[in-house]
Amino acid sequence: MGYLMRFIVLFCLSITRMSALNFFPDKFEIGEKHTSVTLTCKTNKDSVTWKHEDADITVEIVESDFEKVSGRSLTVIDLQEDQIGNYTCWSDKGLEDYTYLLLDKSKEDTVFNINCTAETLSCTEHIKCAWTSDEFTAFRLRNTRDNGNWVSQPVDGVFFLPHSTNSYSEESERLLITGEAVSSCCYLKTDYSFYLRDIVKPANPDISICTVKNGGSDKQIIELEVMPPSSWPQPHSFFPLKHQVEYQIRHNGELKTEEWEEGSKIKVEGHIRKLRVRSRDMLLLSQWSEWTSWKKVPDRETRTRTKERGKEKKRQKEQQEIRNKKKNHKKPGMGKKRGNF
Ligand SMILES: *[C@@H]1O[C@H](CO)[C@@H](O)[C@H](O)[C@H]1NC(C)=O
Ligand SMILES: *[C@@H]1O[C@H](CO)[C@@H](O)[C@H](O)[C@H]1NC(C)=O
Repeated sequence: MGYLMRFIVLFCLSITRMSALNFFPDKFEIGEKHTSVTLTCKTNKDSVTWKHEDADITVEIVESDFEKVSGRSLTVIDLQEDQIGNYTCWSDKGLEDYTYLLLDKSKEDTVFNINCTAETLSCTEHIKCAWTSDEFTAFRLRNTRDNGNWVSQPVDGVFFLPHSTNSYSEESERLLITGEAVSSCCYLKTDYSFYLRDIVKPANPDISICTVKNGGSDKQIIELEVMPPSSWPQPHSFFPLKHQVEYQIRHNGELKTEEWEEGSKIKVEGHIRKLRVRSRDMLLLSQWSEWTSWKKVPDRETRTRTKERGKEKKRQKEQQEIRNKKKNHKKPGMGKKRGNF
């Protein structure tokens, strides 16, 4: 029983230790499974002692079939999982150097898609990349084409990478994004190459419902204005966007869409409950932006009814008057008034 407990405790200890590498070691070496890796101690001593630290257990290394010590170097032969960990080298003066040895899994058949989008073609906005996996605990990305620094701090799971692409000239060279991932045992490196123009995905546009006009007893005309997102490059006539509106018909819940290319305004007809808009680069035919959140279209009838129930008598009276007016002279006059509402 005692042995079993000890085993369990040790096992748990190594599990916690195994999942603890949630950062990149400041010094590490990599090697593929079953290969030999030579670690060299940075010291001016001619010979050193090596220690291996794994699962909080530090063991001094003695020559064996799997570990050869020669002067400042240590060669790990036929690399296996249990040889992974922190190697330290010591002289009579104490600690001289250290390096963390990881199994390189880059060539293994794992699919790790780095997923990048850019809000514009301009270098004023960083490229946003997502990269996660259950197998690894720390990730970092860099823009290798522009010789960028490693970015290892994702914001809400997204890495923001600077780049030097100029939106006014033709993009001649593909971007190269390099990703590295580590877990306690393993290391992975992957490259992702693309033209910036192929990953453009504009931010949400801003929309405002300018006017709602009565176009007849069963019709409304909504004038909608769409403003490009603030991250979109100017002049907007040089970087035209295409917009799509999706709207829901009030009485039957049916969804309809319309697209338009020129100008920022569009008229939508019908009794509409709510609408939302998304945009894409018109010339590149980029990815669509996310939809804006649904915007409710004010409905004159319901509003009047709600207010009527209110306590303020004055208001009640006003509303009553409007209602009366509506009854008396129907559509055309009303339409105008509603427009300015
Ligand atoms: C490896 O050991 C050195 C020396 O003790 C230490 O400074 C370093 O933080 C260790 N690295 C890791 C990743 O544990
Ligand atoms: C990339 O991101 C988009 C949007 O966030 C998502 O729909 C897609 O599934 C992602 N692709 C991969 C391979 O992760």
